[in-house]
Amino acid sequence: MKALDGIKVLDFTHVQSGPTCTQLLAWFGADVIKVERPGVGDATRKQLVDVPGADSLYFTMLNHNKRSIELNSKNETGKEVLTKLIQTCDVLVENFAPGALDRMGFSWERIQEINPRIILASIKGFGPGKYEDCKVYENVAQCAGGSASTTGFRDGPPLVTGAQIGDSGTGLHLCLGIVTALYQREKSGRGQKVTAAMQDGVLNLSRVKLRDQQRLDAGPLKEYSQFGEGVPFGDATPRAGNDSGGGQPGRILKCKGWETDPNAYTYFICQAAIWEKICDVIGEPDWKTKEGYATPPERLDKLNEIFARIEEWTMTKTKFEVMDTCNPHDIPVGPILSTKELIEDEGLRATGTIVDVDHPERGRYTSVGCPIKLSDSPVEVERSPLLGEHTIEILSEVLGYTGEDLARVVDSGAVGAAKQAAE
Ligand code: COA
Repeated sequence: MKALDGIKVLDFTHVQSGPTCTQLLAWFGADVIKVERPGVGDATRKQLVDVPGADSLYFTMLNHNKRSIELNSKNETGKEVLTKLIQTCDVLVENFAPGALDRMGFSWERIQEINPRIILASIKGFGPGKYEDCKVYENVAQCAGGSASTTGFRDGPPLVTGAQIGDSGTGLHLCLGIVTALYQREKSGRGQKVTAAMQDGVLNLSRVKLRDQQRLDAGPLKEYSQFGEGVPFGDATPRAGNDSGGGQPGRILKCKGWETDPNAYTYFICQAAIWEKICDVIGEPDWKTKEGYATPPERLDKLNEIFARIEEWTMTKTKFEVMDTCNPHDIPVGPILSTKELIEDEGLRATGTIVDVDHPERGRYTSVGCPIKLSDSPVEVERSPLLGEHTIEILSEVLGYTGEDLARVVDSGAVGAAKQAAE
């Protein structure tokens, strides 16, 4: 048994943000039916192609454990099928451009008329207001949500991050909204509308930077390197390089081999509680009691000097040796792991966070499995569906089309290449 057994999801999502959400629902046991435009499908199927003729990794890695139906939602028979899907499903998830669902003839009011128990879950770039009609992709959200202005170094331009906090981050937010609405429906008997704007999702993840914005009113942010360097603060939270975002100072430091290996670095945190152990490990036992070094407030204007000394030590060790030496002393450090190291990581493979998946068109590929582990609802990662692979199965088994009725739908052209599949 899976946590979401019995829940049917009409998955009208595309690209990254929506698909990450419905993939999680599928991993938790929901029956996720991905509706795709006949002959075209989710645009990512054909983006960043590495194996000619096969679905791209961009698509396969975001659409595991789903079924695919080709359906033209703008054609009359297609609308009939979509209406039946709405009647049958518990959740409709979409991340079309603003207004697209209304233009198809499926406004929230109409959807509620068809099925008052359905939950309509939508991702948009912005919430209501002056930007509500804008189309938005990942980096736009990172820029508009407070991440880019606070990422990078003070003397450089704003930076976007590699982690897809705008797309996958908002997908996670929406997923939580959906399961919460499903829980409320148990008591209310009614569905509801769940929306997550990408700007809001990024802003939520940038919460500590808004904390710092308000702390500026009380004076300089003393844990920022900028403070120790004597550089005055402006009127907004500055970019802080690799400074720790919390109350315990931290930096990225070079390790042995940094001259040739772009990832021979470690993160190193000077947690107050283990300061004495750090002094012993790096060979500066005098700093334990030395005036100006003994307590965290005294050290704030010397962080560059202190981290430079720690780096002298880390540069004598590989990033893994730093970890092996520091861990027994509870000194929080973390090697900078490359994507190559992560894909080969035995521990991540043992827990199913990194998995190998077989695919009929592209062969075996590696993917990221479900990062959330439920002890009573284990996840088996299954390959993504081919375009329209389950069209006939969904029409007949889920929607009950049989005989002449099924032939009528297939012949209408509303369901793409289903005709060949049926034959
Ligand atoms: N049958 C018929 N038409 C379909 C269809 C189907 N099965 N599926 C989609 N369409 C139509 C839509 O109705 C829409 O038509 P319309 O413009 O006439 O109303 C059209 O396809 C294109 O949809 P749209 O969402 O505008 O796609 P796009 O490729 O132009 O834009 C985004 C892509 C991501 C920018 C946009 O969808 C968006 O801003 N989404 C919300 C924010 C978001 O999730 N962004 C991150 C994506 S990772």
